[in-house]
Amino acid sequence: MVKNKFSLSDKKILLLGGNGLIGSAIRNLFYENGGQIVVIDKKKSKKSKKSILFKEYVCDVSNLKKIETVLKKLSKIGFVPDIYINCTYPKTKNWTKTNFKQIKYKFLKENTEIHLNSHIWLAKVIGDVMKKNKIKGSIIQLASIYGFLGQDVSIYKNTEIQESLVYPVIKGGIINSVRSMAAYYGKNKIRVNSISPGGVFDEHSKKFLKNYINKTPLQRMCSPEEVAYAALFLGSDASSYITGTNLIVDGGFSII
Ligand SMILES: NC(=O)c1ccc[n+]([C@@H]2O[C@H](COP(=O)([O-])OP(=O)(O)OC[C@H]3O[C@@H](n4cnc5c(N)ncnc54)[C@H](O)[C@@H]3O)[C@@H](O)[C@H]2O)c1
Repeated sequence: MVKNKFSLSDKKILLLGGNGLIGSAIRNLFYENGGQIVVIDKKKSKKSKKSILFKEYVCDVSNLKKIETVLKKLSKIGFVPDIYINCTYPKTKNWTKTNFKQIKYKFLKENTEIHLNSHIWLAKVIGDVMKKNKIKGSIIQLASIYGFLGQDVSIYKNTEIQESLVYPVIKGGIINSVRSMAAYYGKNKIRVNSISPGGVFDEHSKKFLKNYINKTPLQRMCSPEEVAYAALFLGSDASSYITGTNLIVDGGFSII
């Protein structure tokens, strides 16, 4: 019988931010496909979801020392990830003030530190763990269409959302770090990719929805599950010859 390349039955998965909008869809889909999942998140999962997890740690990913301690604990119990996915969304309290009018240098610096730097550093730490353990791993970073596009401020006018000067900087950095990491870890058979979703629907206002949909060929926002399927493809052996890519899941938003 031909092996189902999408099966995760022989895979250990380390999922950061696994209790969020996109993270929980990934967690559920990966569980359905047979994976053994460890979640690290700043907040606890809802009780009903716990049973599907091998382990769960409540930890702030920007506290790198703490995270490295958790990783050592996992290593001691023989959990070395085959698939590592980071879908955390670290933000400071001032996040909503990172628009052009209100941003201060401090907001730029702090958000870059907790989001961009933690994504890059942790991927490197995990890459080295995979390398040491000779794991043919898959590393996936959550980027965004705003990692390679500028934000069209007109779609935010008179809506609940504002542009952010920091977000595109962070996501652009993530996309290009993936290329460098993929080049470096290729010889170790470790693949490194990113996913760039368009806007994922999360109870947005009618006004914003209308503006967004007008710019999207498929005329709707993304669902968290549609991002999860992209992660399943990149995490599983179905994408065994794909590395350094940025998989765009945006209903065509970025083509026009
Ligand atoms: N939602 C979208 O429209 C969208 C679009 C494109 C890209 N993305 C990217 O996808 C990723 C996930 O987005 P989301 O919409 O699921 O976000 P979300 O806020 O719903 O979930 C993020 C998760 O990360 C956890 N988290 C936040 N800060 C943390 C920290 N410091 N330490 C540990 N855990 C932390 C939160 O508790 C939450 O469970 C983000 O990187 C985001 O930039 C989202």
